[in-house]
Amino acid sequence: MHGPAWNGLHGGYFSDPAVAEPLLDAVRAALACRRPDAIVDLGGGTGFLLAELARRNLAPDCRLVNVDASAAQLQPAASSRIQKVCAAVDQVRRGALVEKSQTLLFMMRSVLHYFGRAGLLPTLQHLRAQLRPGEYFVHQSACCAEQGAADSLNRLYALMETGKWYPIRAHLQALLASAGWRITAMAAAPSLLLEDAALAARYRLTPAQLADLHAALRASGDNLRGVLETTPAGFRAWLPYTVFTCVAV
Ligand SMILES: C[S@@+](CC[C@H](N)C(=O)[O-])C[C@H]1O[C@@H](n2cnc3c(N)ncnc32)[C@H](O)[C@@H]1O
Repeated sequence: MHGPAWNGLHGGYFSDPAVAEPLLDAVRAALACRRPDAIVDLGGGTGFLLAELARRNLAPDCRLVNVDASAAQLQPAASSRIQKVCAAVDQVRRGALVEKSQTLLFMMRSVLHYFGRAGLLPTLQHLRAQLRPGEYFVHQSACCAEQGAADSLNRLYALMETGKWYPIRAHLQALLASAGWRITAMAAAPSLLLEDAALAARYRLTPAQLADLHAALRASGDNLRGVLETTPAGFRAWLPYTVFTCVAV
């Protein structure tokens, strides 16, 4: 699904300016506190968020850099202002992004869950090591308020064998703090509706695999309203998001 098809996925969630509003508001507030030389969108996909920043003229004096591990995602030209870096978020180094004397702001949306349970803290620590005290990391990350919701979503993603993992919000807050981030603000962002057909297309599930998945979900008794709902014909789920404004301490 990477590349030009990405923006249409999941009802266009990732290319919807209204959906992006809470995260862009938080970035706007961070920019008002501290103006960086470069804004780096980590796992920035097709560059939609940076293009929105440019379109809204939020940072006319900042370099805009999209870091993504997928060359296909980086291929569409969202804006001529965006510099593209094909690299892994958990390996990219400050020196590849700015000159020694320059300052940075990291932003990120819907990427932390790619690192799995074991990879989450090391990734947060790696990102912290790339920023200097006082620099901002503003991210919209999938996390649940309740353990039961996280357990349901994690069972679904384990059945799809994606390696993705969703923490509860309190756990993510604790990991951020232990990695050296101070959270200065949190805000809700729109949930992402995941229809079973879209998940099947995204993760290349065959009809037989999808039928097995339905059967496994029905057998597990998972049916949490607004989190993971099974029906006789299939299922749908919602990923809840929080926008975290963090400062490197
Ligand atoms: C759910 S998409 C979100 C894209 C974009 N942040 C947005 O909100 O529109 C996740 C993106 O993270 C990228 N990604 C996943 N793991 C990555 C990694 N380890 N390093 C860099 N990019 C990664 C994927 O290629 C994909 O573009």
